[in-house]
Amino acid sequence: MFDRIAFVYDSTNKWMSLGLDQHWRSTMVKDCLQLQAEDKVLDLATGTADVGILVGQQLRSLGSASDAVLGVDPSSEMLRRGVAKVETSGLQGTVRLVKGDAQDLTSVQGIDAAGTVADPSAGAATGSIDKISMSFGIRNVPNRQKALAEMRRVLRKKDSSRVCILELSLPGGETFLSKVARGFITHVVPMIGFVATLGQGGEEYEYLERSILRFPQPRDFAAELGRAGLPVDTITSFAYGAVNLYMAKPAL
Ligand SMILES: C[S@@+](CC[C@H](N)C(=O)[O-])C[C@H]1O[C@@H](n2cnc3c(N)ncnc32)[C@H](O)[C@@H]1O
Repeated sequence: MFDRIAFVYDSTNKWMSLGLDQHWRSTMVKDCLQLQAEDKVLDLATGTADVGILVGQQLRSLGSASDAVLGVDPSSEMLRRGVAKVETSGLQGTVRLVKGDAQDLTSVQGIDAAGTVADPSAGAATGSIDKISMSFGIRNVPNRQKALAEMRRVLRKKDSSRVCILELSLPGGETFLSKVARGFITHVVPMIGFVATLGQGGEEYEYLERSILRFPQPRDFAAELGRAGLPVDTITSFAYGAVNLYMAKPAL
């Protein structure tokens, strides 16, 4: 599905978030990941690599080693655009994007800016990753428990390890602004998607609304993370609860 909307994905995000999407991602990178020079970072559902690029830029400025960021996504078209953005940002060598599934990180496939997919190669090994980010991705994963188990498996068990997840939820609460935020997600978002894709991606953006309605409320999702051995330290809410940032650490 993301292959079909990749051509408008970045610009539609800006409209749907009223220009705030990049601010939420950079808050996740700065405040939640708390990067250190030697960190190996896995960006799941990396899409067109906005988070991978932010992480790569910060790690470069800290003097990190090569291939410090691995971005994983199953959509070749999102990745193809992501690889081109990584190259334009001069981050090839620091950020590597691969085709793969968050539910099974044992194998991935390389991809280049032309969208050519290479043979499967080993994915992320057990206990090999210091920090995991995932922005607006976990909602799309069919089996969340599998993805959380994979995060726990690949993460190093140490105090500085982090899982940072940014995700949409249907805002609760009965204040005027919570109701406006709810109405925005259920009515305005699908309409923007329909217009941005010239009427071709309406179905995909209706899926966005449905997937948000299905996604658990923040406390319930935090409990899921806890059950997966990734207890949540903090939940930071943006946009009247429409966007939440979960910071989890591995149970030691
Ligand atoms: C809304 S986009 C988010 C992309 C990016 N993280 C961002 O912040 O813009 C959701 C992404 O989740 C990816 N996705 C869907 N199923 C997935 C899975 N099983 N494992 C990993 N990523 C998945 C899609 O291909 C898509 O690129």
